[in-house]
Amino acid sequence: MAILIREANQILTMKRGIGIIRKGSVLIERGIIRRLGRFRISSKGLRVIDARNCVICPGFVDSHTHLVFAGYREKEFALRIKGMDYETIARKGGGIAYTVKHTQRATVNQLFELARKRIERMIKQGTTTVEIKSGYGISKGAELKMLKVISRLKRESSLDIVATLLIHIPAKGVSRRKYLNLILEEIIPEVGKKRLAQFCDVFCDRIAFTRDESEKILSRAREFGLKLKIHADELTYTGGARLAARLGCVSADHLLYTRRADIYAMKKAKVVPTLLPGTSFFLQLDRKPDVRTFRQENIGVAIASDYNPGSCMLYAMPKIVALACLVYQMSVEEALLGATKYGARALAMEHKVGSLEVGRQADLVVLEVNNYQMIPYTFGEDIVKFTIKNGRIIYGKDN
Ligand code: NIG
Ligand code: FE
Repeated sequence: MAILIREANQILTMKRGIGIIRKGSVLIERGIIRRLGRFRISSKGLRVIDARNCVICPGFVDSHTHLVFAGYREKEFALRIKGMDYETIARKGGGIAYTVKHTQRATVNQLFELARKRIERMIKQGTTTVEIKSGYGISKGAELKMLKVISRLKRESSLDIVATLLIHIPAKGVSRRKYLNLILEEIIPEVGKKRLAQFCDVFCDRIAFTRDESEKILSRAREFGLKLKIHADELTYTGGARLAARLGCVSADHLLYTRRADIYAMKKAKVVPTLLPGTSFFLQLDRKPDVRTFRQENIGVAIASDYNPGSCMLYAMPKIVALACLVYQMSVEEALLGATKYGARALAMEHKVGSLEVGRQADLVVLEVNNYQMIPYTFGEDIVKFTIKNGRIIYGKDN
């Protein structure tokens, strides 16, 4: 049935800035936005949503998550609060390795069930497009198992899901050289040939892969037609963002230690910077990304949740928007664009999702706030009233 969402206080189209339309309505037919703006039509035969006192914005695009995993790390959380840092825990054999152990032991069905529930909760927080990384498998078999879970989520979920092969940390018990060889000669070729992922990502940092190793990994992935992403300059400066520019990565993520010259290089190469404020908050990191330079250079910055059991247990995008403001001093407009339009750009999907216009697939959320500044301000409330994906109501409070 066609849907008419009537008279929202504000519609944020994300066209030319956040592109506010006041007192606007949206008509959705067969999954597509047919009309958008100020118009009046008869509501006969339509499912009508009264959006007075509400804001409509594009469904959130969460362009960086690790939502398939088994092995929660609450013990590590308690240790961190006592003062042990993320890197020290990892070096002692905890951290990512702990989740790897549990993910390797879990079956496809178990991982699928855990992930499906997490996606259900994300939908209630307005996410309509989500990227999901592998990376807790490490062995070839377990990485393929994770990608199989992601393919099944893609088939069975109503969301747009983007799969990423993440080369996360070196394997235990084999030499680095041998594991790198397995990645380059077996894992990437198989994933590439069978089209099990759209992107390849690598964790380029002190506790993971060096810049040279990362370059080998990403170059190989590119040969097999995978688009590229990188976890860059998160815990220390590695030059990962500079590498992203050189290789033409679609996005470079984290960027806490990225230098100004690297930002210029990223701009030139059109790499989308992706900031993860939830992770900075959850790990209580003092170091902040250079938001001012991104702003001065007029670079569109994506923000994402990084949802994972170690560094950020938050998947709710309205709250990630709030943290972008509170932790990184991004403006409300920058944060909202980051969670929609630029998130879509970070997935090379800006022509499909992340903004509202006539003729596009109808992915949008109706928020129970009367102006957009209320979105981060009402931090502690769950403000999503309806989540609409491809013109279908997939979550509704009074539904
Ligand atoms: O993006 N930095 C590496 N990977 C994840 C954390 C994964 C984990 O701790 O389990 C991140 O922060
Ligand atoms: Fe991550």
